[in-house]
Formats: sequence, structure tokens, C-alpha cells
Amino acid sequence: MMRGLLDPTRIVSLRRRLVWQFLLLSAVLVLGLFLVVGWVADRASRASQDAVLGAAVTAITEGIRSVDEGLELDLPYATFSMLGAMGDERIFYLLTVAGQGVTGYEDLPPPPSPPTDMTPVFYGADYRGARLRLASVGRMMLIQNRLQPVTVTLGQTRLGQAAIARDTARSAAWAALGFMLLALPVALLAAQAVLQPIRTLADVMGRRGPRDLRPVRHATPRELTPLLRALNGLIARLRAALELAETFIFEAAHRIRTPLSLVRAEAELALAETSDEATRIRLRRMVRAIGESSRSANQILDHAMVMYRTDQYAAARVDLAALAHDGLRAIGPIAEMRDIRVTHDIAPCLIEGDERMLEIALRNLLDNAIKYAAPEGHVDLTLTCADGQACLIVSDDGRGLSDDPAQLIGRFRRGGNVGDTGGSGLGLTIVTEVAHAHRGRFQLKPGQRGGTCALLHLPSA
Ligand SMILES: Nc1ncnc2c1ncn2[C@@H]1O[C@H](COP(=O)(O)OP(=O)(O)O)[C@@H](O)[C@H]1O
Ligand SMILES: [Mg+2]
Repeated sequence: MMRGLLDPTRIVSLRRRLVWQFLLLSAVLVLGLFLVVGWVADRASRASQDAVLGAAVTAITEGIRSVDEGLELDLPYATFSMLGAMGDERIFYLLTVAGQGVTGYEDLPPPPSPPTDMTPVFYGADYRGARLRLASVGRMMLIQNRLQPVTVTLGQTRLGQAAIARDTARSAAWAALGFMLLALPVALLAAQAVLQPIRTLADVMGRRGPRDLRPVRHATPRELTPLLRALNGLIARLRAALELAETFIFEAAHRIRTPLSLVRAEAELALAETSDEATRIRLRRMVRAIGESSRSANQILDHAMVMYRTDQYAAARVDLAALAHDGLRAIGPIAEMRDIRVTHDIAPCLIEGDERMLEIALRNLLDNAIKYAAPEGHVDLTLTCADGQACLIVSDDGRGLSDDPAQLIGRFRRGGNVGDTGGSGLGLTIVTEVAHAHRGRFQLKPGQRGGTCALLHLPSA
């Protein structure tokens, strides 16, 4: 489950995403600015050039005079040089009288609708391989005693004007790009600032101990409130589940173990009191079955307890030597019943750990040793404590191991040579889990003189 969550190909960086979004937006902005500024500059310069063109064509037209021989036209060169001021523009003109070209470029494209007065008519046309902007004005004049329409058309290329508009747009784009580069560190800082509260929250959670299930009261920005609420909800549910597990384990232990041992005692009593062979066989079977169930129940509960306490692990100083003595005392009666000699060599040993878990592990090791020892055999417990390592060894002279110890550690795994010895296969699982919770290690191996040797290494205090 965790692997799925932490799959590196699926992790996205919020910071990277924010920065990419910023860059993309900025690029769109730069492009937009380039286009808009280009358009506006083009329009503005076109309008001002039109004004100049209009003024020029009007000035030329106003300069036409009627003389006796016909018309007299002064081409004002100052006007032409004004038209070329924006660049090397080409300039064309045409004067017509009653539609007939009189002077200038006679093939100059005519206006779409002929001008009727001194208000210039502007239009565009292609002429001699260039795009021209033209202005045309008209005027009625008395020529050879006849009132005739005179039209003056002036055209110019607009290469310089277009270049200027393009330059303006390009400068605007560069400026925007510059601003974008300046804004990039600011965007990074902003992303950092946005992510900081999340990081702080993660820190606060990370610093908590595994048993700290108080709601998170850390002040967070309003946007994180839903996350915080969800987190607190989760913590509350976890706490409730843990409380339920705890209640269940303790209640079950109490309500299953006690009645079972009572039933077993009653059955044993009945077995002792009855002489009818058929009943005795039945009662013997009953005692056996009850023993099995109670052993299984005990181990399942022990396992649940170990898992629960591993989750809630809190180390305290534990006197392992005292625990070992207690364990030996507890198995004393069973050992005596089976004529098993129990020896020990226990050195003083203090470790940091969970007493209840260690007691359960020890009980399971001793239980196995007694269970699988030879009848009238020998079980030995040795506890040494040196170099920061406590080493607890439980050995017996029994049937030994028929299977790979690594396999026997698995849940509900039992050896092939257990015969009719009862068991649930959880004992070694429990011992291994206790060892891991204490950052220790558990080993099961054949004994030096036959039998089995179980070693529990734990870091000492
Ligand atoms: N001291 C021992 N001597 C021989 N075999 C053992 C010993 N301890 C454990 N085993 C083997 O390991 C198996 C798993 O042990 P355990 O988890 O305690 O389950 P159980 O004792 O209920 O069978 C046992 O079934 C047995 O085959
Ligand atoms: Mg066992």
C-alpha cells in the first residue's frame, strides 16, 4: 500500500507545477503584448502618416492656379521630403483634369470613389510591385472658361512605417520578457511561501511520537483547514480503533481464559472421580480439546497483544534477569510433571523494552523447550549481558528441528516432527515480532548436543 503511495513516477512537485504555470502564463502574456503593441503602434503611425499624406495632397491641390494657358502646378518639395521622413519611401503623384491624366504617373490606381472636395479620400493599392497608401482630393477649377474637376492623387510606400511598428512591438516583447525573468525568482519565492505551511504541518506531524494521538492544534492558513480537519478525523478514528482493539484484547483475555481453565479443571475433576471406562475416554478427549483451545486462544491473544504493543511501543527499563526467573518459576510445575530437569545461568541484565512483550516471548520460548524436550530430558536457560547486548538462550535436548527455522517462524507454521504435540504455530511468530520491536533478533538453530537452541539477542540498556 505504501509502495503505491510513494511511487516516484506518480509524485508531482507542487512547486514545479506552480512555476511551470507561471512560465506558461507569462509566455502567453509576452506573445499577447507583442501582438497588441504591434497592432496599436501600427495603427497610430498609420494615422499620423495619413494626416501627413492628407496635408500634403491638400497643399499640392491648393497650390494649383488657373493661368491663361491652362493650369500651373508647383510641386512643393518640402512636402515630399516630409513624406519620406520615416524611411526611404517612394512617392507617386497624378494630376487629372476631367478624368484625363495631365501630369505624374498616369497609371496610378484611381480611388474607389472619386473625391468631390478637398477632404482627402484614402485608399490602398498595389503599384509597381509595392503596397501604396494613397490620398486623393478633388476641386472644381475654371480652365479655359470651363468649370472642370481637377483631381490630385498622392501615393507613398509605407516600408519605414511598418518597420517602426514592428520595432516598437519587438521592444515591448523584450521588455515583457525582461519583466518575466525578473518575476521568476519572485514566483519561486511565492511558491515557497505557499508550500511553507504544508511543510511546517508535515514537520509537526513528523515530530510526534507514535503514541501521540492528540488532535493537531497547529495554526494553519485557512486553505489548509479541510486537510487539518480530515487529519484530525483520521486521528480520532485511529484512536477509537486502538481503544477498541485494546478493550477487545483485555476483555477477551479475561473472558476466554478464565472460563476455559474452569471448564478444564471441572473436566479433570470428573475424570478423577469416574471409574466408567467409556466416560473416562470421553472426558480425557474433552480435557485434551479444552487444553488445545485454551492454548490457541492464549497464543492468538498474545499475538494480538504483541502487535498492539508494538504499535504503541514505549520502552522502559526492564529487569530481564527477574523476568527469566519468573518464567522459570511459571513452568516449574509442568517441567516437574514431565520429569524435565531445568537448569539456568542468569546474569544480571537490564534492558530498555516492553516488559509485557518480553514476558510473552520468554513464555513462548520456555513453552516450546518443555513441549519439545525429551521426556525426563533437560532444558537450560542462559542469560548473558555484555557489550550492549543481552543474549537469552533457551536450549533443550528434544527432537530437534525437522524444518528450516526461517519457515517455522511464519504464522501458524508447525514443524513436520511435532507428532501429536499440541500447538498453534504462533509462538515463534510472536517471539520474532517481539525481537524486532526491540531492535533485536531471534534465531532458532540445532543445539550443540542435539535438541534445539533458541537465541534472543536484545540491545541492553
Ligand atoms: N524447542 C523446539 N524443539 C523442536 N522444535 C521446535 C522447538 N521450538 C519450535 N519448534 C518447531 O517450530 C514450530 C513452530 O513453533 P511455534 O511457533 O512455537 O508453534 P507451536 O509450538 O505451536 O507448534 C513448532 O511446530 C516446532 O516444529
Ligand atoms: Mg510454541
